[in-house]
Amino acid sequence: MAGKIRASIIGGSGYTGGELLRLLLMHPQVEVRSVSSEKSKGTPVTKVHPNLRSMTSLEFVEAAKIDSDVDVLFLCTPHGASVKLVEQYLQRGMKIVDLSADFRLHNSAEYPVWYGHPHPRPELLSKFVYGMPELHREEIRKAQYVASPGCLATSAILALAPVVAAGLVDTEHIVVDSKIGSSAGGASGDASTHHPERAGTVRAYKPTGHRHTGEIEQELSGLIGGRRVVVSLSPHAIELVRGIFSTAHCFLVKSGLKDVDMWKTYRSFYKDSPFIRLVKEKEGIHRYPEPKLVMGTNFCDIGFELDAHAPRLVVMSAIDNLVKGSGGQAIQSMNLMFGLDEKTGLWFPGMHPV
Ligand SMILES: NC(=O)c1ccc[n+]([C@@H]2O[C@H](COP(=O)([O-])OP(=O)(O)OC[C@H]3O[C@@H](n4cnc5c(N)ncnc54)[C@H](OP(=O)(O)O)[C@@H]3O)[C@@H](O)[C@H]2O)c1
Repeated sequence: MAGKIRASIIGGSGYTGGELLRLLLMHPQVEVRSVSSEKSKGTPVTKVHPNLRSMTSLEFVEAAKIDSDVDVLFLCTPHGASVKLVEQYLQRGMKIVDLSADFRLHNSAEYPVWYGHPHPRPELLSKFVYGMPELHREEIRKAQYVASPGCLATSAILALAPVVAAGLVDTEHIVVDSKIGSSAGGASGDASTHHPERAGTVRAYKPTGHRHTGEIEQELSGLIGGRRVVVSLSPHAIELVRGIFSTAHCFLVKSGLKDVDMWKTYRSFYKDSPFIRLVKEKEGIHRYPEPKLVMGTNFCDIGFELDAHAPRLVVMSAIDNLVKGSGGQAIQSMNLMFGLDEKTGLWFPGMHPV
Protein backbone atom coordinates (compact mmCIF):
# COMPACT_ATOMS: atom_id res chain seq x y z
CA MET A 1 0.00 0.00 0.00
CA ALA A 2 1.10 3.59 -0.67
CA GLY A 3 0.37 5.18 2.72
CA LYS A 4 -0.18 3.77 6.15
CA ILE A 5 -2.98 1.28 6.87
CA ARG A 6 -5.89 3.24 8.34
CA ALA A 7 -7.47 1.33 11.24
CA SER A 8 -10.44 1.77 13.58
CA ILE A 9 -11.34 -0.30 16.63
CA ILE A 10 -14.86 -1.00 17.87
CA GLY A 11 -14.75 -2.00 21.54
CA GLY A 12 -11.50 -0.19 22.33
CA SER A 13 -12.14 0.29 26.05
CA GLY A 14 -11.90 -3.42 26.84
CA TYR A 15 -8.83 -5.52 27.52
CA THR A 16 -8.35 -6.87 24.00
CA GLY A 17 -9.14 -3.46 22.48
CA GLY A 18 -6.61 -1.79 24.79
CA GLU A 19 -3.90 -4.27 23.95
CA LEU A 20 -4.64 -4.04 20.24
CA LEU A 21 -4.37 -0.26 20.51
CA ARG A 22 -1.03 -0.47 22.39
CA LEU A 23 0.39 -2.60 19.58
CA LEU A 24 -1.19 -0.69 16.69
CA LEU A 25 0.07 2.68 17.98
CA MET A 26 3.63 1.33 17.76
CA HIS A 27 3.08 -0.42 14.41
CA PRO A 28 5.21 1.31 11.75
CA GLN A 29 2.63 0.83 8.97
CA VAL A 30 -0.60 1.69 10.82
CA GLU A 31 -2.46 4.87 11.63
CA VAL A 32 -5.25 4.43 14.20
CA ARG A 33 -8.15 6.64 13.14
CA SER A 34 -10.76 6.02 15.83
CA VAL A 35 -11.56 3.86 18.83
CA SER A 36 -15.03 3.23 20.22
CA SER A 37 -16.59 2.90 23.63
CA GLU A 38 -20.21 3.53 24.50
CA LYS A 39 -19.54 4.01 28.21
CA SER A 40 -16.45 6.22 27.80
CA LYS A 41 -17.34 8.20 24.65
CA GLY A 42 -15.82 11.70 24.73
CA THR A 43 -13.03 10.78 27.14
CA PRO A 44 -9.36 10.36 26.23
CA VAL A 45 -8.43 6.72 25.63
CA THR A 46 -5.61 7.24 28.14
CA LYS A 47 -8.21 7.60 30.92
CA VAL A 48 -9.11 3.96 30.40
CA HIS A 49 -5.68 2.79 29.19
CA PRO A 50 -3.22 4.88 31.28
CA ASN A 51 -0.28 2.85 29.94
CA LEU A 52 -0.80 4.73 26.64
CA ARG A 53 -0.14 8.22 28.06
CA SER A 54 1.98 10.31 25.64
CA MET A 55 1.34 7.72 22.93
CA THR A 56 -1.99 9.02 21.64
CA SER A 57 -4.40 11.93 21.92
CA LEU A 58 -7.38 9.92 20.63
CA GLU A 59 -10.71 10.16 22.42
CA PHE A 60 -13.32 7.42 22.47
CA VAL A 61 -16.28 7.85 20.16
CA GLU A 62 -19.47 5.82 20.16
CA ALA A 63 -19.44 2.87 17.78
CA ALA A 64 -21.95 4.53 15.43
CA LYS A 65 -19.48 7.44 14.95
CA ILE A 66 -16.23 5.61 14.33
CA ASP A 67 -14.25 6.63 11.28
CA SER A 68 -15.29 3.93 8.85
CA ASP A 69 -13.28 5.36 5.95
CA VAL A 70 -10.51 2.94 6.88
CA ASP A 71 -8.60 0.01 5.42
CA VAL A 72 -9.21 -2.29 8.36
CA LEU A 73 -11.77 -2.46 11.14
CA PHE A 74 -11.15 -4.45 14.31
CA LEU A 75 -14.11 -5.66 16.37
CA CYS A 76 -13.14 -6.26 20.02
CA THR A 77 -16.72 -6.72 21.12
CA PRO A 78 -18.46 -9.51 23.05
CA HIS A 79 -19.79 -12.62 21.44
CA GLY A 80 -23.20 -11.76 19.95
CA ALA A 81 -22.40 -8.04 19.52
CA SER A 82 -19.98 -8.50 16.61
CA VAL A 83 -22.48 -10.29 14.39
CA LYS A 84 -24.94 -7.42 14.84
CA LEU A 85 -22.33 -4.70 14.26
CA VAL A 86 -20.58 -6.24 11.29
CA GLU A 87 -23.55 -6.09 8.91
CA GLN A 88 -23.30 -2.36 8.23
CA TYR A 89 -19.58 -2.60 7.32
CA LEU A 90 -19.66 -5.57 4.96
CA GLN A 91 -20.43 -3.49 1.87
CA ARG A 92 -17.88 -0.74 2.59
CA GLY A 93 -14.81 -2.48 1.19
CA MET A 94 -12.62 -2.43 4.30
CA LYS A 95 -11.05 -5.56 5.72
CA ILE A 96 -12.45 -6.75 9.04
CA VAL A 97 -10.81 -8.67 11.86
CA ASP A 98 -13.29 -9.84 14.49
CA LEU A 99 -11.88 -10.94 17.84
CA SER A 100 -15.12 -12.43 19.12
CA ALA A 101 -16.34 -15.99 18.64
CA ASP A 102 -19.11 -14.97 16.23
CA PHE A 103 -17.43 -16.18 13.03
CA ARG A 104 -14.92 -18.77 14.21
CA LEU A 105 -16.96 -21.93 13.65
CA HIS A 106 -17.55 -22.86 10.01
CA ASN A 107 -20.50 -25.16 10.68
CA SER A 108 -23.53 -23.23 11.96
CA ALA A 109 -24.82 -26.44 13.61
CA GLU A 110 -21.93 -26.14 16.08
CA TYR A 111 -23.17 -22.81 17.52
CA PRO A 112 -26.10 -24.31 19.47
CA VAL A 113 -23.72 -26.98 20.80
CA TRP A 114 -21.12 -24.57 22.16
CA TYR A 115 -22.96 -21.23 22.47
CA GLY A 116 -26.45 -22.45 23.32
CA HIS A 117 -28.29 -20.77 20.43
CA PRO A 118 -28.48 -20.91 16.65
CA HIS A 119 -26.19 -18.57 14.72
CA PRO A 120 -28.22 -15.50 13.71
CA ARG A 121 -26.48 -15.09 10.32
CA PRO A 122 -25.15 -18.52 9.28
CA GLU A 123 -24.71 -17.37 5.67
CA LEU A 124 -21.88 -15.06 6.82
CA LEU A 125 -19.72 -17.81 8.34
CA SER A 126 -18.14 -18.85 5.05
CA LYS A 127 -16.90 -15.29 4.45
CA PHE A 128 -14.49 -15.47 7.40
CA VAL A 129 -11.11 -17.20 7.56
CA TYR A 130 -9.97 -18.59 10.93
CA GLY A 131 -7.18 -16.17 11.81
CA MET A 132 -4.39 -18.46 12.92
CA PRO A 133 -1.42 -17.76 10.63
CA GLU A 134 0.42 -20.93 11.65
CA LEU A 135 -2.42 -22.99 10.11
CA HIS A 136 -3.99 -20.68 7.52
CA ARG A 137 -1.28 -18.30 6.36
CA GLU A 138 -2.12 -18.40 2.66
CA GLU A 139 -5.90 -18.10 3.19
CA ILE A 140 -5.38 -15.12 5.50
CA ARG A 141 -3.23 -13.35 2.90
CA LYS A 142 -6.23 -13.41 0.54
CA ALA A 143 -8.94 -12.85 3.16
CA GLN A 144 -11.27 -9.89 3.37
CA TYR A 145 -12.65 -11.00 6.74
CA VAL A 146 -10.85 -12.80 9.53
CA ALA A 147 -12.23 -14.41 12.70
CA SER A 148 -9.42 -14.22 15.22
CA PRO A 149 -9.12 -17.35 17.41
CA GLY A 150 -10.01 -17.68 21.08
CA CYS A 151 -7.18 -17.47 23.59
CA LEU A 152 -7.53 -20.95 25.10
CA ALA A 153 -8.08 -22.35 21.63
CA THR A 154 -4.85 -20.72 20.44
CA SER A 155 -2.79 -22.32 23.21
CA ALA A 156 -4.34 -25.76 22.65
CA ILE A 157 -4.31 -25.80 18.84
CA LEU A 158 -0.71 -24.62 18.55
CA ALA A 159 0.42 -27.25 21.08
CA LEU A 160 -1.38 -30.09 19.31
CA ALA A 161 -1.39 -29.30 15.58
CA PRO A 162 1.99 -30.87 14.65
CA VAL A 163 1.36 -34.24 16.34
CA VAL A 164 -2.22 -34.46 15.13
CA ALA A 165 -1.20 -33.61 11.55
CA ALA A 166 1.59 -36.19 11.71
CA GLY A 167 -0.82 -38.92 12.90
CA LEU A 168 1.23 -39.64 16.02
CA VAL A 169 -1.56 -39.48 18.62
CA ASP A 170 -4.99 -40.94 19.30
CA THR A 171 -7.19 -38.09 18.08
CA GLU A 172 -10.27 -39.25 19.98
CA HIS A 173 -8.59 -39.09 23.40
CA ILE A 174 -6.82 -35.79 23.89
CA VAL A 175 -7.00 -34.03 27.25
CA VAL A 176 -6.07 -30.36 27.63
CA ASP A 177 -5.71 -28.86 31.09
CA SER A 178 -5.30 -25.08 30.96
CA LYS A 179 -4.40 -22.46 33.58
CA ILE A 180 -5.64 -19.00 32.72
CA GLY A 181 -5.30 -15.44 34.02
CA SER A 182 -8.10 -13.10 35.01
CA SER A 183 -7.84 -10.71 32.01
CA ALA A 184 -9.32 -13.47 29.83
CA GLY A 185 -12.69 -12.60 31.32
CA GLY A 186 -12.65 -9.03 30.01
CA ALA A 187 -12.68 -5.65 31.74
CA SER A 188 -16.21 -5.54 33.07
CA GLY A 189 -15.81 -8.07 35.90
CA ASP A 190 -18.31 -9.74 38.18
CA ALA A 191 -18.38 -11.40 41.61
CA SER A 192 -15.97 -14.10 40.45
CA THR A 193 -13.32 -11.50 39.55
CA HIS A 194 -13.72 -9.41 42.70
CA HIS A 195 -10.22 -9.26 44.20
CA PRO A 196 -10.85 -11.15 47.47
CA GLU A 197 -12.49 -13.93 45.46
CA ARG A 198 -10.00 -14.05 42.60
CA ALA A 199 -6.70 -13.49 44.42
CA GLY A 200 -4.84 -16.67 45.27
CA THR A 201 -7.40 -18.79 43.49
CA VAL A 202 -7.06 -22.12 41.72
CA ARG A 203 -10.58 -22.54 40.42
CA ALA A 204 -11.98 -24.99 37.88
CA TYR A 205 -14.57 -22.89 36.11
CA LYS A 206 -15.57 -25.11 33.20
CA PRO A 207 -14.27 -28.65 33.72
CA THR A 208 -16.30 -29.85 30.72
CA GLY A 209 -18.07 -28.20 27.81
CA HIS A 210 -15.89 -25.08 27.42
CA ARG A 211 -16.89 -23.16 24.28
CA HIS A 212 -13.42 -23.13 22.80
CA THR A 213 -13.56 -26.92 22.46
CA GLY A 214 -15.58 -26.43 19.26
CA GLU A 215 -12.93 -24.39 17.48
CA ILE A 216 -10.07 -26.60 18.75
CA GLU A 217 -11.75 -29.71 17.32
CA GLN A 218 -12.64 -27.88 14.09
CA GLU A 219 -9.05 -26.81 13.48
CA LEU A 220 -7.39 -30.10 14.46
CA SER A 221 -9.89 -32.06 12.41
CA GLY A 222 -9.10 -29.82 9.44
CA LEU A 223 -5.50 -31.04 9.61
CA ILE A 224 -6.53 -34.68 9.06
CA GLY A 225 -9.04 -34.29 6.28
CA GLY A 226 -12.04 -33.62 8.49
CA ARG A 227 -11.73 -36.84 10.49
CA ARG A 228 -13.20 -36.81 13.99
CA VAL A 229 -11.13 -35.23 16.76
CA VAL A 230 -12.29 -35.25 20.39
CA VAL A 231 -10.62 -32.86 22.80
CA SER A 232 -11.46 -32.77 26.51
CA LEU A 233 -10.65 -29.25 27.69
CA SER A 234 -10.62 -28.21 31.37
CA PRO A 235 -9.54 -24.64 32.13
CA HIS A 236 -8.66 -23.36 35.60
CA ALA A 237 -8.57 -19.77 36.77
CA ILE A 238 -5.32 -19.11 38.60
CA GLU A 239 -3.39 -16.24 40.15
CA LEU A 240 -2.31 -14.44 36.99
CA VAL A 241 -3.52 -11.28 35.27
CA ARG A 242 -2.22 -12.27 31.84
CA GLY A 243 -1.21 -15.64 30.54
CA ILE A 244 -2.33 -19.13 29.62
CA PHE A 245 -0.44 -22.32 30.30
CA SER A 246 -1.90 -25.41 28.66
CA THR A 247 -0.84 -28.99 29.28
CA ALA A 248 -2.06 -31.38 26.61
CA HIS A 249 -2.05 -35.11 27.36
CA CYS A 250 -1.97 -37.21 24.20
CA PHE A 251 -1.80 -40.96 23.81
CA LEU A 252 0.60 -42.25 21.18
CA VAL A 253 -0.53 -44.54 18.39
CA LYS A 254 3.03 -45.31 17.33
CA SER A 255 5.58 -47.05 19.53
CA GLY A 256 9.27 -46.35 19.79
CA LEU A 257 9.02 -42.58 19.35
CA LYS A 258 11.99 -40.67 20.71
CA ASP A 259 12.64 -37.02 21.53
CA VAL A 260 14.38 -36.59 18.21
CA ASP A 261 11.19 -37.63 16.37
CA MET A 262 9.18 -35.08 18.32
CA TRP A 263 11.72 -32.33 17.66
CA LYS A 264 11.58 -33.12 13.94
CA THR A 265 7.77 -33.10 13.95
CA TYR A 266 7.50 -29.72 15.68
CA ARG A 267 10.42 -28.10 13.83
CA SER A 268 9.14 -29.07 10.44
CA PHE A 269 5.52 -28.06 11.13
CA TYR A 270 6.56 -24.64 12.43
CA LYS A 271 9.55 -24.01 10.18
CA ASP A 272 7.94 -20.87 8.70
CA SER A 273 6.27 -19.68 11.92
CA PRO A 274 8.40 -17.04 13.62
CA PHE A 275 6.21 -16.71 16.72
CA ILE A 276 6.51 -20.35 17.73
CA ARG A 277 9.48 -21.06 19.99
CA LEU A 278 10.28 -24.64 20.97
CA VAL A 279 11.34 -24.72 24.60
CA LYS A 280 12.77 -27.90 26.03
CA GLU A 281 16.03 -27.56 27.89
CA LYS A 282 17.93 -30.19 29.82
CA GLU A 283 18.77 -28.00 32.77
CA GLY A 284 18.09 -24.66 34.41
CA ILE A 285 14.90 -23.28 35.92
CA HIS A 286 13.19 -22.38 32.64
CA ARG A 287 13.25 -25.81 30.98
CA TYR A 288 9.69 -25.64 29.67
CA PRO A 289 7.35 -22.86 28.47
CA GLU A 290 6.20 -20.31 31.05
CA PRO A 291 3.57 -17.59 30.64
CA LYS A 292 5.85 -15.09 32.43
CA LEU A 293 8.43 -15.36 29.65
CA VAL A 294 5.95 -14.51 26.86
CA MET A 295 4.07 -11.79 28.73
CA GLY A 296 3.39 -8.78 26.49
CA THR A 297 4.66 -10.66 23.42
CA ASN A 298 3.18 -12.48 20.45
CA PHE A 299 5.18 -15.65 21.08
CA CYS A 300 3.72 -19.05 21.77
CA ASP A 301 6.32 -21.19 23.55
CA ILE A 302 5.85 -24.94 23.16
CA GLY A 303 7.58 -27.80 24.96
CA PHE A 304 7.02 -31.54 25.24
CA GLU A 305 7.98 -34.64 27.17
CA LEU A 306 7.53 -38.30 26.24
CA ASP A 307 6.39 -40.37 29.22
CA ALA A 308 8.77 -43.28 29.84
CA HIS A 309 6.12 -45.19 31.83
CA ALA A 310 3.05 -44.90 29.60
CA PRO A 311 2.33 -44.29 25.91
CA ARG A 312 1.74 -40.63 26.73
CA LEU A 313 3.05 -37.43 25.18
CA VAL A 314 2.73 -34.28 27.30
CA VAL A 315 2.80 -31.02 25.34
CA MET A 316 2.96 -27.67 27.12
CA SER A 317 2.27 -24.25 25.65
CA ALA A 318 2.42 -20.72 27.05
CA ILE A 319 0.94 -17.54 25.57
CA ASP A 320 -0.15 -14.09 26.66
CA ASN A 321 -3.94 -14.26 26.19
CA LEU A 322 -4.06 -10.56 25.30
CA VAL A 323 -1.31 -10.74 22.66
CA LYS A 324 -0.93 -14.09 20.86
CA GLY A 325 -4.33 -14.99 22.32
CA SER A 326 -6.06 -11.90 20.87
CA GLY A 327 -4.64 -8.46 19.88
CA GLY A 328 -1.23 -9.64 18.66
CA GLN A 329 -2.59 -12.54 16.65
CA ALA A 330 -5.16 -10.17 15.10
CA ILE A 331 -2.31 -7.87 13.98
CA GLN A 332 -0.33 -10.86 12.70
CA SER A 333 -3.33 -11.63 10.48
CA MET A 334 -3.70 -7.98 9.48
CA ASN A 335 -0.03 -7.93 8.41
CA LEU A 336 -0.64 -10.89 6.13
CA MET A 337 -3.88 -9.38 4.76
CA PHE A 338 -1.96 -6.26 3.72
CA GLY A 339 1.06 -8.08 2.28
CA LEU A 340 3.40 -7.20 5.14
CA ASP A 341 5.87 -9.43 6.91
CA GLU A 342 3.77 -11.05 9.66
CA LYS A 343 6.32 -9.94 12.27
CA THR A 344 5.80 -6.22 11.54
CA GLY A 345 5.10 -4.33 14.76
CA LEU A 346 5.19 -7.56 16.77
CA TRP A 347 8.83 -8.55 16.80
CA PHE A 348 10.02 -7.84 20.32
CA PRO A 349 10.89 -10.01 23.32
CA GLY A 350 9.23 -10.14 26.71
CA MET A 351 10.77 -8.93 29.94
CA HIS A 352 12.91 -10.86 32.37
CA PRO A 353 12.47 -10.89 35.26
CA VAL A 354 8.82 -9.88 35.46
N1 LIG B 1 -9.87 -11.17 27.11
C1 LIG B 1 -9.26 -12.10 26.37
O1 LIG B 1 -8.22 -12.68 26.78
C2 LIG B 1 -9.79 -12.45 25.00
C3 LIG B 1 -8.96 -13.24 24.16
C4 LIG B 1 -9.43 -13.55 22.87
C5 LIG B 1 -10.68 -13.11 22.45
N2 LIG B 1 -11.46 -12.38 23.31
C6 LIG B 1 -12.75 -11.94 22.80
O2 LIG B 1 -12.60 -10.57 22.41
C7 LIG B 1 -13.83 -9.85 22.65
C8 LIG B 1 -13.54 -8.70 23.59
O3 LIG B 1 -13.03 -9.24 24.80
P1 LIG B 1 -12.51 -8.31 25.97
O4 LIG B 1 -11.89 -9.21 26.98
O5 LIG B 1 -11.72 -7.16 25.41
O6 LIG B 1 -13.90 -7.75 26.53
P2 LIG B 1 -14.16 -6.44 27.42
O7 LIG B 1 -12.92 -6.09 28.17
O8 LIG B 1 -15.39 -6.71 28.20
O9 LIG B 1 -14.45 -5.29 26.35
C9 LIG B 1 -15.60 -5.30 25.55
C10 LIG B 1 -15.61 -4.05 24.69
O10 LIG B 1 -16.73 -4.13 23.81
C11 LIG B 1 -17.50 -2.91 23.92
N3 LIG B 1 -18.90 -3.27 23.70
C12 LIG B 1 -19.67 -4.12 24.42
N4 LIG B 1 -20.89 -4.27 23.85
C13 LIG B 1 -20.88 -3.49 22.76
C14 LIG B 1 -21.86 -3.20 21.75
N5 LIG B 1 -23.05 -3.80 21.74
N6 LIG B 1 -21.53 -2.31 20.77
C15 LIG B 1 -20.30 -1.73 20.74
N7 LIG B 1 -19.35 -1.96 21.66
C16 LIG B 1 -19.64 -2.83 22.66
C17 LIG B 1 -17.20 -2.39 25.31
O11 LIG B 1 -17.39 -0.98 25.30
P3 LIG B 1 -17.98 -0.10 26.52
O12 LIG B 1 -16.87 0.80 26.95
O13 LIG B 1 -19.11 0.66 25.96
O14 LIG B 1 -18.38 -1.07 27.60
C18 LIG B 1 -15.72 -2.75 25.44
O15 LIG B 1 -14.92 -1.79 24.79
C19 LIG B 1 -14.81 -10.88 23.24
O16 LIG B 1 -15.61 -11.39 22.21
C20 LIG B 1 -13.89 -11.96 23.80
O17 LIG B 1 -14.50 -13.22 23.85
C21 LIG B 1 -11.04 -12.03 24.55
